[in-house]
Amino acid sequence: MKLLNTVSELRTYRSSLSGSVGFVPTMGFLHEGHLSLVRRSTSDCDHSIVSIFVNPTQFGPNEDFNSYPRDIDRDLAMLEAAGADAVFLPAAEEMYPPGADTFVVPGKIAERLEGAVRPGHFKGVATIVLKLFNLVRAQKAYFGQKDAQQVAVLRKMVADLNVPVELLVMPIVRESDGLAMSSRNTYLNEDERQAATILYQSLKMAESLIESGEKHAETVKQKMAEFISNEKLACTDYISISDGDSLAEQTIITRPALISLAVRFGRTRLIDNLILV
Ligand code: PAJ
Repeated sequence: MKLLNTVSELRTYRSSLSGSVGFVPTMGFLHEGHLSLVRRSTSDCDHSIVSIFVNPTQFGPNEDFNSYPRDIDRDLAMLEAAGADAVFLPAAEEMYPPGADTFVVPGKIAERLEGAVRPGHFKGVATIVLKLFNLVRAQKAYFGQKDAQQVAVLRKMVADLNVPVELLVMPIVRESDGLAMSSRNTYLNEDERQAATILYQSLKMAESLIESGEKHAETVKQKMAEFISNEKLACTDYISISDGDSLAEQTIITRPALISLAVRFGRTRLIDNLILV
């Protein structure tokens, strides 16, 4: 597995490849969710490139950029075992040299949900992902459904800016009790970790309400909020039932619907979602 630290090393490596290239962008501290994307890339494509870069521009001033978990040695061993061919590990100055001052600004789709709570977040995501796409020049790029709004924003960017890449979206990988895997789960103490199963439980509750005939989004959201409020350690940021592509909030539930939520446990903020097809 090749380690590439600079833009110029990545460009040289990329030029040496023939055949199809798959790309998996990550911020590291990898888990089975990330590895499911890498494995899919290695099975679909001749070459698979993974990036590990904790992207400063997608973190707000009071967010966890400095404390974001990092363990490069462990990540590299996991990527080697998953069959990645190359890992791009740039320093921050490599991606944002002094004076870098051009950004991708997503439109309306980035204003709601995560975008409303984390202003500027998707501008940072779209900018780094387009830069990485331009460097890696992959035919296919792999993302997780875990970050549903990220997928919607990036799909729109690719369509609106005619970016020559195909986005493939993989299902959410969960722990055995249903908690969606996330690098941020490591922030949870034992009690919070237990309480965090409330996200998936509330999504399953919503699913069964809708499946047994409930059509009003407000009723379902209210029941989810009540259910979560029974968990003392949990504090709900938002609960949404939207159209999965436009993220427009639904009043009467029509499928496919994206049920998504963000819940805080102390200083840790977790997101999860479920698509009803
Ligand atoms: P990161 O949070 O490291 O996630 C990298 C990729 O792994 C994303 O596409 C994310 O949706 C996916 N992923 C995370 N947890 C998952 C799970 N439990 N199941 C399936 N897929 C999962 O998302 C980012 O990094 C950054 O915003 C990035 C796109 C790299 C830009 O900086």
